[in-house]
Amino acid sequence: MNRLSEFMLPPQKSTVAEGTDALFHFITTTSIILLIGITIAIIYFSWKYRRRSENDVTPVITHNSALEISWSVIPLILVMIVFGWGLRGYVNLTTVPDDAYEVRVVGKSWLWEFHYENGYVSVNELHVPVNRPVRLVMSSDDVLHSFYIPDFRVKMDVLPNRYTSLWFEATETGESVIFCTEYCGTAHSNMLATAYVHEQEDFETWLLTAGAADLDMDPIELGAELVSRNACQTCHSSDGSRLQGPTFLGLFGSERVMDNGERIIADENYIRESILDPNVKIVEGYLPVMPSYTGTLNDRQIDAIIAYLRTLQ
Ligand code: CUA
Repeated sequence: MNRLSEFMLPPQKSTVAEGTDALFHFITTTSIILLIGITIAIIYFSWKYRRRSENDVTPVITHNSALEISWSVIPLILVMIVFGWGLRGYVNLTTVPDDAYEVRVVGKSWLWEFHYENGYVSVNELHVPVNRPVRLVMSSDDVLHSFYIPDFRVKMDVLPNRYTSLWFEATETGESVIFCTEYCGTAHSNMLATAYVHEQEDFETWLLTAGAADLDMDPIELGAELVSRNACQTCHSSDGSRLQGPTFLGLFGSERVMDNGERIIADENYIRESILDPNVKIVEGYLPVMPSYTGTLNDRQIDAIIAYLRTLQ
């Protein structure tokens, strides 16, 4: 079964992966056996009971108890096995262990935000310890998204105005890809993140130092780093090409035409407002789809991003 898993499915990197795959293989294998058996029976019977002559008349068959019981009972047994097995998996996936480490997840068009216990926020990077249950408490700031880590075999819808949650326990360190699996607009396919699984100690070190490195950085360098870390480039290019949002190239200091005809010079205040309250002013020809970075970026970080944007002329 493990060989089959390696061939058909992503690597098993969580405690539930093996059980989930076993049920998947049971359903697939049973279906293939039934498909082959039924196909062979249809072909064989249509040959065996073909019309042989003009007066070859089909006898009237009212019923066949043995046959009817077996075609009812066998599928019933199969369905009950799948139900019981699936229910056990479902209960396991919805019963969060008491000592689970909690991370708050916010889905936005089009990025994933991860809020940790110490207030640190990472975008498109989920950091977790290995061999410890992790519970994600999730919600969306705008439309429906869906959080999916194939390596861990966990997936859950992320909704506005409601919390959903899931849990997993990673069994090895390394990186796993996170997808959004609910079509949520133009850049849905770019709504990717990475789960980084650390040794317990390394995770604690990461958590302690995550925000601290920024303090030593030069503002322009920090700004460039923040633009990349906060997934700004999903929608804003730095080379003049048009994505979902206006390009950053030549943005600072330029005259912008808004969708209401108003003309604005893109100064520090305009950029600050566009980061914190993005849909107050919309540039002509674009849609009001940018999520707010209020609570994600602090003043110092916004200053750094402005410093970086000034260099893109
Ligand atoms: Cu978010 Cu698709």
